[in-house]
Amino acid sequence: MLRYLAARLRHRGPAAKQYLRAGLGLERRAQHLAIFWNDHLSRTRAAQARWARDISGGLLTVLGAGPLLDFNDAALSPRVDRFRLVDANPLCVDYWKSLERPVEPLIADITNCLEVWLQTLEAAAGSWTDTLSQIKSLSLQSKRGYVPVTDSLLSLNILSQLEVGWQESVEPLLKKRFGSRFVHEHEQEWLQAIQPSSRVLAEQHLAALESSRAPEILLITDAEYVDYTGRKYAVNKWEPPPLTWSEEGWQADPGIEFEVTPALEGLVLNGDSLARWMPSYQVQWHDSWLWHISPYGTEPIDHGQLHRVVALPLRLLK
Ligand SMILES: C[S@@+](CC[C@H](N)C(=O)[O-])C[C@H]1O[C@@H](n2cnc3c(N)ncnc32)[C@H](O)[C@@H]1O
Repeated sequence: MLRYLAARLRHRGPAAKQYLRAGLGLERRAQHLAIFWNDHLSRTRAAQARWARDISGGLLTVLGAGPLLDFNDAALSPRVDRFRLVDANPLCVDYWKSLERPVEPLIADITNCLEVWLQTLEAAAGSWTDTLSQIKSLSLQSKRGYVPVTDSLLSLNILSQLEVGWQESVEPLLKKRFGSRFVHEHEQEWLQAIQPSSRVLAEQHLAALESSRAPEILLITDAEYVDYTGRKYAVNKWEPPPLTWSEEGWQADPGIEFEVTPALEGLVLNGDSLARWMPSYQVQWHDSWLWHISPYGTEPIDHGQLHRVVALPLRLLK
């Protein structure tokens, strides 16, 4: 809490506040649910170790470096001269001091949109219906995301978080204006209104990766979310998730009810969509695993949550 308050004094904008809070939440949950998160963290590091063989020298830029929970310093440091670590959460800089290569820290919102969109919504007072129309029209005011000039580029579990961060910024604003109860009762309406701008954030991220023309890119992101019921877990005892995934689809244990939703506002990451958004790149290999992010019974919600994560290494076509 003290770290949060000290950081709030230095970083005052509404966006910084939201990222500071989310960052502390991430660290708390990573500790609380460590036995369930470890598999995801080590699969993420293993994907970086495999990709590390393809990069050599120069600058590696990491988007969404965060507290480096899932970053593979041991595998990547020997392959590069320096790192540029990028995140919107100012508290991350403390974690970036112990790496084996020099670090250029960049605390920034990589979308270049969120602050302006929030200001637009804050400035426009109006009815609920007017506000929903304003939210919908924000997608038309999108800007180019942060495009790094770099020798290699790692997008590290940030892509799906762009829209999550955006929703978590809009919700308090709506609650302040219309009241928590009203916003809760009209949740579907505002979540629908925010879809176009959320989708823009996902597309804009892929466009920024494409524009970087970094010779090697590794994109690691959630691709699907699963909500399930029918089986509870204890926080101190590891047991496998109640579902498995393969190229053929999802398999659930008996008695499990579940629902799968795409993580990126309908943008399914596969060869076709990547070829459309990143035509200068070719996918080298593909890996996918499950992140049991919220096992049912370990957190105060009435269901469990799994993320299916993908790792996609992309090479610039000459
Ligand atoms: C799921 S966390 C992953 C963090 C890190 N890879 C780790 O596991 O330690 C997503 C990260 O993306 C950052 N982030 C989310 N939206 C961002 C934005 N618009 N610009 C920059 N960073 C953002 C968050 O602050 C957070 O650190």
